[in-house]
Amino acid sequence: MPIPVIDFSKLDGEGRAKTMAQIANGCEEWGFFQLVNHGIPLELLARVKRVSSDFYKLEREENFIKNSPSVKQLKELVDKKNEDKLENNDWEDVILLSDDNEWPTKTPGFKETMMAYREELKKLAEKLMEVMDENLGIPKGYIKKAFKGGEGDKAFFGTKVSHYPPCPHPEMVNGLRAHTDAGGIILLFQDDEVEGLEILKDGKWIDVQPIPNSIVINTGDQIEVLSNGKYKSVWHRVQAMPDRTRRSIASFYNPSYNATIEPAAQLVEKENSDVNQSGYPKFVFSDYMSIYTEQKFLPKEPRFQAVRTVY
Ligand code: OGA
Ligand code: NI
Repeated sequence: MPIPVIDFSKLDGEGRAKTMAQIANGCEEWGFFQLVNHGIPLELLARVKRVSSDFYKLEREENFIKNSPSVKQLKELVDKKNEDKLENNDWEDVILLSDDNEWPTKTPGFKETMMAYREELKKLAEKLMEVMDENLGIPKGYIKKAFKGGEGDKAFFGTKVSHYPPCPHPEMVNGLRAHTDAGGIILLFQDDEVEGLEILKDGKWIDVQPIPNSIVINTGDQIEVLSNGKYKSVWHRVQAMPDRTRRSIASFYNPSYNATIEPAAQLVEKENSDVNQSGYPKFVFSDYMSIYTEQKFLPKEPRFQAVRTVY
């Protein structure tokens, strides 16, 4: 069962109503869908693939093989003939690009290309947020404004460049352990060929099938809260693969750390709005992230409970 594939170019034209409905279905029933014809130039995507792979080879691969805790711990398990699975590590190499951190500099073209890419993806995220506003029946610009926080704040936009190297014992370690994403909207440019990403749908793990140059969209815990549970964040994981390196680039459009997140008033039934104890909490996003950092690979419900107490 493939996850929905949506032609985003049909949003502006005769196909608008149908496309809006497909996106609503993707958000409500799946939590994950793929966009094709999303308007990001293919030439830019080709460069992003190239510089990301060059970066991994030039600046990361050797270090992963020599120094990664996962490599060491897996080797120890195998040497001991222990058949357990590595529970506390992921078989991945990651760097985060944001507006405020240092970026790698050795790989030719990396910085310029990724800057151009992030600008495009941010625009796509903002367009999608407006689609979600409309589908949810909340005012246009609501999600963007909620994520922005107060005066002088801005939403957080981060880009995680990940590589999942070939693993000698893929049955003993995860590429990335199962989790739901903490933030808002996630836009993933995954490998054209190497599969591995799976989502939990109706109790079964299913593949997010690679489609060259598509962008996979999913929603995180903050959209679940803001939509009052209409758009649920969905569990996903990455399987380690035995023979090939998988590249994936995930961009996160998240609230500012200072933003207050709560269910949109329009989506909360009136009689429950002041005693919404059993529903979703209201909190400051940085408090949520403190809890998430400790509990990323655990169910989200206790996080929603814990953050309610903090506030
Ligand atoms: C993540 C994630 C999936 C992937 O970074 O949160 O789920 O394919 N990544 O790398
Ligand atoms: Ni994730």
